[in-house]
Amino acid sequence: QVALANELPGSEVIVVSNREPYIHNRKDDGTIQVQRPASGLVSALEPVTRACGGTWIAHGSGSADRDSVDADDRVGVPPAKPTYTLRRLWLTDEEQDGYYYGFANEGLWPLCHIAFVRPIFRESDWRFYRSVNEKFAEAVVAEAKRPDPIVLIQDYHLALAPRMIRDRLPNATIITFWHIPWPNSETFGICPWKEEIIDGLLGSSILGFHTQFHCNNFIETVDRFMESRIDRESDSISLAGHETFVRPYPISIDWPPAALEGQAPVPETRTTVRERLGLSPDIKLGVGIERFDYTKGILDRMRGVDAFLTEYPDWKGRFCFAQVAAPTRAKLASYRNLQAEAEALADEINARHGADGWEPIKLLARHHEPDEVFELFRAADLCIVSSLHDGMNLVAKEFVASRDDEQGVLVLSAFAGASRELSEALIVNPYDAYAMGQVIHRALAMDSGEQRERMKVMREQVEAKNVYRWAGQMLLDAARLRKKERIMRLI
Ligand code: G6P
Repeated sequence: QVALANELPGSEVIVVSNREPYIHNRKDDGTIQVQRPASGLVSALEPVTRACGGTWIAHGSGSADRDSVDADDRVGVPPAKPTYTLRRLWLTDEEQDGYYYGFANEGLWPLCHIAFVRPIFRESDWRFYRSVNEKFAEAVVAEAKRPDPIVLIQDYHLALAPRMIRDRLPNATIITFWHIPWPNSETFGICPWKEEIIDGLLGSSILGFHTQFHCNNFIETVDRFMESRIDRESDSISLAGHETFVRPYPISIDWPPAALEGQAPVPETRTTVRERLGLSPDIKLGVGIERFDYTKGILDRMRGVDAFLTEYPDWKGRFCFAQVAAPTRAKLASYRNLQAEAEALADEINARHGADGWEPIKLLARHHEPDEVFELFRAADLCIVSSLHDGMNLVAKEFVASRDDEQGVLVLSAFAGASRELSEALIVNPYDAYAMGQVIHRALAMDSGEQRERMKVMREQVEAKNVYRWAGQMLLDAARLRKKERIMRLI
């Protein structure tokens, strides 16, 4: 932070995302409950914005959000001790259906994840996507107190906003971070508005992805579909006289994580969580914690548990897998169907292997706040992250961060960006149920010494490459760019 203050004196930071960091919901008794959304984006960006201050522009999505702001639509957050301003933007149901559910989540989300769910592209959704991006861009211009703010745009909901902001604030430093994978050019070519999306993103000064692999995919896509100049030495792209740098910035979490504060010691947590779940005290516990999303491989890990118990029946009655799945985007059939399918599969596996009141799978389909999530992590013997494809996956890093006792085994999909950094996890192909069963067995058999060795290395990695470094690196690159631009203007 000190380095940043020196590098970027007096700069104004504006964060822009679809999802807001605090949701205000009205409960049945009329009181307002503040909720932290289950979102990798929010877990990463919130501590950084807290540290930097500034303004965060997001869509107000809670049932009581409007009551919690003043006439200006601005509210200080975090609620207890405000350090930055949350400026909410209101969308109509129609806008939300077209821009968020439609184009972003039925189009771009399956397109970029390649999880074999067919993307749907509708002209009407696209129109809303464009007009809502305009709304966000206008809000940035309205919030900017200087002609050259640093604007941090987040994710696939806002691909057009960088260009729209660039047109209005030519001296802004726009850093856009794409939190999900970028597919190969052939796949991206499916999108009917690929040129517009790419053009929008190339309004950025810096465009970030989690991995070099996704940067390469993006550059190849531009090469294939746009008339631009690509400099492969510096990984920059020039389009119509404007240059964009394409860089990998692996996202992470805060360290030490705030959710660790106030946690009971691990042995105590192991007992209380098992009691709460109705499990015997000595049972081995596996956990999975996700939004109910088809990219996360929730069904696949259940099939892995099934394969494990089929192969190693002596584990029956001695192991339980608890899957927390927070309902998400439930307006879309693909998400609702997944929940129904997961429930049916859990019932089927429980019926096949369960006996004497013991069931191998517990499905907890509700939102859990960060401290409850950490409790589960700390009570577990192993954590399974089996994404079919994931930009990074912060659950893997949170599990590691929660284990200050240096115990517990992480089973991690080879297709999550996190597997590039956390190579001491047991890496698995989630499409291979048999292999997953074998890995669960290997995890349960791992002695405490080996668990400690692996966990130690992973903890060092997450601590050193925490989210402040993620944001710090982007902001330092931005500072260098601003200096260079200032010098160029003098010549
Ligand atoms: C992914 C996206 C984030 C989003 C999160 C939750 O991680 O990259 O932008 O915040 O999912 O999704 P939601 O639709 O609930 O905001």
